[in-house]
Amino acid sequence: MSTLPKSDDIQMAGPWVTEEDIAIVTNMLRNGWYGKDAYAYVEKFEREFAGWHNRKYGLMTPNCTTSIHLLLAGLGIKDDDEVIVPECTWIASVAPVVYQRAKPVFADIDPVHWCVTPDTVKKCITKKTKALIAVDLFGNMPEMDALQKICDDAGIYLIEDAAEALGSTYQNIRAGKFGVGSVFSFHRTKTITTGEGGILLLDDDKLFERCKFLRDHGRSPGTYYNTEVTFKYMPSNLQASLAYAQFKRIDELVERKRWIWKTFRSYLKDIPDLYLNPEPRNVYNGVWCPALVFGKSYGITKEQAMDRLGKLGLPVRPFFYPLTSLPAFPQYAADGPKNCPVAYDVSNRGINLPCAYTLSENQIAHYADGIRKILGG
Ligand SMILES: Cc1ncc(COP(=O)(O)O)c(C=O)c1O
Repeated sequence: MSTLPKSDDIQMAGPWVTEEDIAIVTNMLRNGWYGKDAYAYVEKFEREFAGWHNRKYGLMTPNCTTSIHLLLAGLGIKDDDEVIVPECTWIASVAPVVYQRAKPVFADIDPVHWCVTPDTVKKCITKKTKALIAVDLFGNMPEMDALQKICDDAGIYLIEDAAEALGSTYQNIRAGKFGVGSVFSFHRTKTITTGEGGILLLDDDKLFERCKFLRDHGRSPGTYYNTEVTFKYMPSNLQASLAYAQFKRIDELVERKRWIWKTFRSYLKDIPDLYLNPEPRNVYNGVWCPALVFGKSYGITKEQAMDRLGKLGLPVRPFFYPLTSLPAFPQYAADGPKNCPVAYDVSNRGINLPCAYTLSENQIAHYADGIRKILGG
């Protein structure tokens, strides 16, 4: 195993960068600028990352938000189309729907895996629905086979937002293989990082060509001849060199993420009515970040938990807010709690625990003691 990063202070999230990673990035800085070398790491990383996920194509982008935007644009999602999205996710899953002037329709989540469910999705389908963006929240997996069937029956696209699910599988199929396209994030806080970064994975030849064209100012490669005004969502070779280096270590990175989650689980196992990321029989959970939902018996809200743990020197973050509760989506505020009661309830009782690679067993043990204390144990 490579040497783990350490920090005496508790860090919420952050990467594991090794000397080997630095050597690869240094090589890019020395040699990765001219001729066929200028995009060599981008091409190598796109090919290997796509292959690992059994996808035909990968298109790296400046971040995952732009990957989602590129896919929606490539699919021709536009004004007044409806796209079903989870009520509880990071806003990045939904913002690109709004960029395309389409309408997000929020589906409720499951109380156990915290992702959308076949029933909540079905309720949202109308004649205007064009796509479902299913999010693998915190590494957890929704019932992908049932969601795919619903999308096929309704003639809509399934898009998998696997930003948080690198290394997860559902029925032995890797997260990132579901739907017409999937996306990953390589943000500073994610399982593999490039500081900022993302990738779109695809299988369809035509869709790939269209998204590739949209990614670079609507021009034929190598020309200054633009046939449409499109985006500039190109990755850099520098970013890709770190992606390539980190991805070589994917097994140890996912294993360490699982170690953090398993260690929290074992230190918290004597406390009843607490719920961490689940791992049902048909799922292998890459657990980008361990989240904790307090059972109703404690009557504790996420704000109270954050406040009390903070006072013990144990920082935590809130579970994602229901998006319709945020000022960013005022037009949805009135109906949100009625349409998505589970999301409002779970989010109200949930916190994100730290997931930095610097976390030690001792630090995790302190969290378990703190949680026991704030719950009156
Ligand atoms: C579920 C989900 N989707 C999309 C994104 C967007 O990723 P990025 O920050 O790389 O744009 C994130 C990142 O935090 C995420 O958690």
